[in-house]
Amino acid sequence: MTEYTKTCVVWLLWFLLCVATINLCLCNSLSSATCWEIERQALLKLKAGLVDPANQLSTWTDEDCCRWRGVSCDNQTGHVVKIDLQRDFGSFFRGYFNGTIPPQLGNLSILEILDVGNNLHLRADDLQWLSGLLSLQHLDLTYVNLTKSSDWSHMIFRLPSLSVLKLGNCGLHSLPSSIKNLYANSTRLSVLDLSRNDFDSEIPGCLFNISSLTYLDLTYSNFNGQIPSAFENLIFLEVLLLMQSNNLKGNLPDILEQAGSFRYLRTLDLRYNMISGSIPASIGRLSFLSKLYLSGNQLNGTVPNIIGQLSDLKVLDLADNSLQGIISEHHFTNLMKLQELDMSSNSLVLNVTPGWVPPFHLKVIGLGSCHLGGYFPKWLHTQSKFIALNLSNTRISDTIPDWLWNLSSQVVLLDLSQNEIRGMLPMSFSSTDIDDINLSYNKFEGSLPRLPSRPFSLDLASNSFTGPIAFGNNEVFLSHLILSNNKINGSIPSSICKLEELAVLDISNNQLSGELPTCRKNFTNLMVVNLANNNLSGEIPTMMCQHPYPYLEALRLSNNSFSGEIPSSMKDCTDLVMVDLGQNKLHGNIPTWMGESLSSLVFLRLRSNFFGGTIPPQICELSSLQVLDLADNNLTGNLPVCIGNFSKMIVNPNASQPTLNIPEFGASAGDFGNYIFPNYKYSLPLVRDGEEREYTNNLPLVTNIDLSDNSLVGEIPEGLLNLLGLQCLNLSGNYLTGNIPLKIGVMQSMMTLDLSRNELSGQIPPSLSNLSFLNHLNLSFNNLSGRIPTGSQLQTLNDTSVYMGNSYLCGPPLPQECPGDGPSQNPSFTSKENEDEGGDIQEMLWFYLGIVSGFVLGCWMVWGVLFFKRSWRIAYFLVVDDLYDKVYVTSVLGIRRLKEMKGRRT
Ligand SMILES: *[C@@H]1O[C@H](CO)[C@@H](O)[C@H](O)[C@H]1NC(C)=O
Ligand SMILES: *[C@@H]1O[C@H](CO)[C@@H](O)[C@H](O)[C@H]1NC(C)=O
Ligand SMILES: *[C@@H]1O[C@H](CO)[C@@H](O)[C@H](O)[C@H]1NC(C)=O
Ligand SMILES: *[C@@H]1O[C@H](CO)[C@@H](O)[C@H](O)[C@H]1NC(C)=O
Ligand SMILES: *[C@@H]1O[C@H](CO)[C@@H](O)[C@H](O)[C@H]1NC(C)=O
Ligand SMILES: *[C@@H]1O[C@H](CO)[C@@H](O)[C@H](O)[C@H]1NC(C)=O
Ligand SMILES: *[C@@H]1O[C@H](CO)[C@@H](O)[C@H](O)[C@H]1NC(C)=O
Ligand SMILES: *[C@@H]1O[C@H](CO)[C@@H](O)[C@H](O)[C@H]1NC(C)=O
Repeated sequence: MTEYTKTCVVWLLWFLLCVATINLCLCNSLSSATCWEIERQALLKLKAGLVDPANQLSTWTDEDCCRWRGVSCDNQTGHVVKIDLQRDFGSFFRGYFNGTIPPQLGNLSILEILDVGNNLHLRADDLQWLSGLLSLQHLDLTYVNLTKSSDWSHMIFRLPSLSVLKLGNCGLHSLPSSIKNLYANSTRLSVLDLSRNDFDSEIPGCLFNISSLTYLDLTYSNFNGQIPSAFENLIFLEVLLLMQSNNLKGNLPDILEQAGSFRYLRTLDLRYNMISGSIPASIGRLSFLSKLYLSGNQLNGTVPNIIGQLSDLKVLDLADNSLQGIISEHHFTNLMKLQELDMSSNSLVLNVTPGWVPPFHLKVIGLGSCHLGGYFPKWLHTQSKFIALNLSNTRISDTIPDWLWNLSSQVVLLDLSQNEIRGMLPMSFSSTDIDDINLSYNKFEGSLPRLPSRPFSLDLASNSFTGPIAFGNNEVFLSHLILSNNKINGSIPSSICKLEELAVLDISNNQLSGELPTCRKNFTNLMVVNLANNNLSGEIPTMMCQHPYPYLEALRLSNNSFSGEIPSSMKDCTDLVMVDLGQNKLHGNIPTWMGESLSSLVFLRLRSNFFGGTIPPQICELSSLQVLDLADNNLTGNLPVCIGNFSKMIVNPNASQPTLNIPEFGASAGDFGNYIFPNYKYSLPLVRDGEEREYTNNLPLVTNIDLSDNSLVGEIPEGLLNLLGLQCLNLSGNYLTGNIPLKIGVMQSMMTLDLSRNELSGQIPPSLSNLSFLNHLNLSFNNLSGRIPTGSQLQTLNDTSVYMGNSYLCGPPLPQECPGDGPSQNPSFTSKENEDEGGDIQEMLWFYLGIVSGFVLGCWMVWGVLFFKRSWRIAYFLVVDDLYDKVYVTSVLGIRRLKEMKGRRT
């Protein structure tokens, strides 16, 4: 080695050392360097808009913003590359933004990930600042209100590096046509989430041109029309979510025709649309398929055996279609990974060999309305991990096998309703901790066991349980307790006061007696109380709804022996929709506050009590009222002149339907809501057509005024004629005088009109014959005179009993001839009337549709609101924290169960 070489080596070593040192210094200096001031300022601006009750952003003060929680920087340059303030159950940040995203975020020039999703109070009025973020790869603005930022698509779809874009629930209304040009050959976007917006248009075919997509979520986005057929472009698609868009149409065989091109499809969710056709055998080519959701469509035909070859399948959801045929073990041959199976609400027959041992261990088992052959399926015994089991309406006429009760520790939902299951409940039932138990509509008998404390919901309605109600000593979490239609006796125990979470209590149609217990604590969640048709006595308790918990919506105490007056504390129950105190021994006046305070009241039934005094005119302020039944009391005075003000009974068929304003949380409250609040259906007995019947499904459509059998005097107010939507008017058995209003024929919805047993005089107005829906008319026992009008509807109401007891009436159907009567009628007059009738029917249809949609919406709103009530919210978070998985998988079942129940409980 020469000197020269040595020198070189030394120099080289020296040089390397220097480089290393410089590097080291640089690195050191960089890693200890504070972040860029301009970026720090931008982050501070962001922080200023945060509501951070848990003080989780306490680190957002010191110099080095790279060390702040939720912020990450590039190791080399010190620039902020990631902001993660995702507000989610799993993530750290539990505060929220309140206000506008600060445009200073545009200064974070090499930001790659911006995640501020699920912040409910955040909005962005303008997304100009996004244009600076050329490195942005991942943008999550879920729940950020973008209603006002009309430029959103321009800004966002121009980001050159974007691969993940989440814009769920941003209040978006339209997809600009320009995205087609922007994206047809842009290859980066891989995840696109536009769910829960309100596009109200067809799915733009261009979305299906983005060939780089692996994940496309259009759930609840109100896209309608046909599903585009340009699937073959989406060759990398792994997840396609189109659930409940807005009745998307399509033919499943067509959609899957290019099944070969979706080689990688793992999740296909087409739930609750209008997909038709049958399940094609080509589905067998989707060999990576893991989750297949097809429920709530119009699929028919049989289920192909090849589905049993999809060995990655974890979820198979076929419920709520028109599938038929036999399902055998061949359908499950290779489904080792199956966890959720839901075939409910089809016409399927499950026929497996008795000793079948399934290859899977299910968590969710939905077999509602499947034909199971009369017995509990033996193979269920092998499914020791299930958390939800729906065997409702499966024609089981067996006893419950013992093992079912022993499995219960992880079970959330058990629905065995609508079968013919016999036997008694075991002692162990009292300690079960299943959250939601429905054994209604079976043949269970024997004395009611001590009620378990753990469930949210227990429905034992319509069995033959006897004996008294008893609760255990523990804290009771029951929120829904439904024991109606049994033979339960004894009194309501004071231990019911322990049910602090109680929301729905229905013990109607039993043999309960005695007074209601007085509870020291208030029921803060009480929503429905139905104690009708028992033999309960005493005063109406005052603890039903207390300021500040006025959530009671329905109070039914009818057909008992309650006495005393209506307690004035009820005026705090401002959410009341239904008050039924009929058939008791109540007295006193009808309180004036009823009209003033109970502004949500739709159904008011006080019939068959001893109420006296006059009808307070304040009652006319009840603008939602549809049923006013004060019959068979001791009311005096005139009919209130304002009786025509009940705006729900005034229907203008030409008015356009109100815009449905679905609350923000409608969708998610639905998913969880059905789980936490199993369906409860209002019902009410009403007298129409002269006989009393229980109205349930049609109740929202009913309009009734029944003031019969009181001591009312005076004339029928003209204003009554405003009530064009009134279907049933009964004023019989009073002392009303004067004429029947001449224009009564304008009340086109009228089906029942009973003015009998009054002192009405004058002629029967000829317009009466215009009431084309009238099917029950009674004018008997008045002082009416003159010719009975004829024509259209009145020709079918030709029973003499309609008119008898009026000495001076004449003409058919009465035998008395009118003076100067000829034998002939005028036929041309009649046929013209019939033409009018057609138009009326159409109008009525619109009217009904309007009411139905209004009512459905009403329920949603109620649930949406309740969802945020204190203790249910706690329940909800408990559920989310502890049972997230459980709820996740059962919510699917919950929705369906609700639908089934709705169909069933007529
Ligand atoms: C930056 O450094 C941290 C810790 O030294 C390391 O965990 C991280 O992966 C690095 N990030 C990059 C982008 O190199
Ligand atoms: C958001 O801020 C506004 C005004 O600063 C305030 O009135 C409102 O109550 C806040 N909303 C929430 C949910 O914190
Ligand atoms: C979104 O913002 C618009 C206007 O700023 C407002 O009218 C709308 O109610 C907001 N939407 C939600 C869901 O808060
Ligand atoms: C995208 O495709 C269009 C037409 O197919 C073409 O005109 C345009 O140049 C392409 N853009 C890029 C960036 O490749
Ligand atoms: C399925 O329904 C379609 C249209 O509703 C009908 O044409 C077809 O015959 C049905 N297929 C089966 C197998 O029932
Ligand atoms: C129960 O209601 C009464 C009367 O409204 C009220 O004074 C009391 O504070 C309430 N108790 C609780 C625990 O909310
Ligand atoms: C009905 O009212 C009248 C007078 O207001 C009263 O004398 C009578 O006792 C009342 N009847 C009943 C059953 O309350
Ligand atoms: C009464 O109406 C019935 C049913 O419309 C009809 O069959 C009958 O002939 C009518 N009787 C008279 C007397 O008009």
